[in-house]
Amino acid sequence: MRLRSKKWAVPFIDEHPDLIIKDQRAKQLKGNWSLVFGNNHPLYLEIGSGKGQFILDNAIKYPENNFIGLELQPTAVAIAGKKAFKQDPQLANLKLILGDGGDVSDYFADNEISKIFLNHSDPWPKAKHEKRRLTAENFLKSYSKILLPNGALELKTDNLGLFEYSLSSFKKFGLSWPEEQISYDLHHELKKNPVNIETEYEKKFAEMNQPEYWIRVNF
Ligand SMILES: C[S@@+](CC[C@H](N)C(=O)[O-])C[C@H]1O[C@@H](n2cnc3c(N)ncnc32)[C@H](O)[C@@H]1O
Repeated sequence: MRLRSKKWAVPFIDEHPDLIIKDQRAKQLKGNWSLVFGNNHPLYLEIGSGKGQFILDNAIKYPENNFIGLELQPTAVAIAGKKAFKQDPQLANLKLILGDGGDVSDYFADNEISKIFLNHSDPWPKAKHEKRRLTAENFLKSYSKILLPNGALELKTDNLGLFEYSLSSFKKFGLSWPEEQISYDLHHELKKNPVNIETEYEKKFAEMNQPEYWIRVNF
């Protein structure tokens, strides 16, 4: 979903290079994110982090882990950055990348990431756009490179078409999951993911009583 662009967004991004890292610089940091955070804590990545509430709430709740939100749209990144800055200007375990998750191995070295989150990713429903879905085979290949052995991918969506496509893509890729790591109605089965943190889109769809589909797969 494209956001209406805000005039203040690009200046805000330029003024906060410690929090918001632009594409080219992020590529130079590949393999060295522990230096950026100043520690070796596990690194969690959300691709398509939008306005950032999910990744920000995670960073606040889990100071023992590092978090990166990767997002294409400058206005969304700037809104996320503003929220984070307002919440805690010293928040040390969160960075935002203004970049494209088309090939995450541009930004991250092999085995650099502990977990990837895909939350309400664009569904690209037309068959001719299959390769753009963030769970298409090419994306899974780059996730398997950057994830640690047995690293996890968590997907949440309101879109059944994208969910079922993703399950079949995971299976073709040789991935499997136990029953307790999948739900067709997460908000009524929170025992499967008691630590669930809601995203902006998730809240919006929950208000419309739309079920939240969820899966965690280990690579
Ligand atoms: C529907 S929004 C969901 C935002 C947020 N994850 C949530 O659940 O509230 C999808 C977001 O993914 C971003 N996005 C789509 N393709 C992307 C890509 N290849 N790399 C980075 N971000 C992407 C879009 O710009 C948009 O902000």
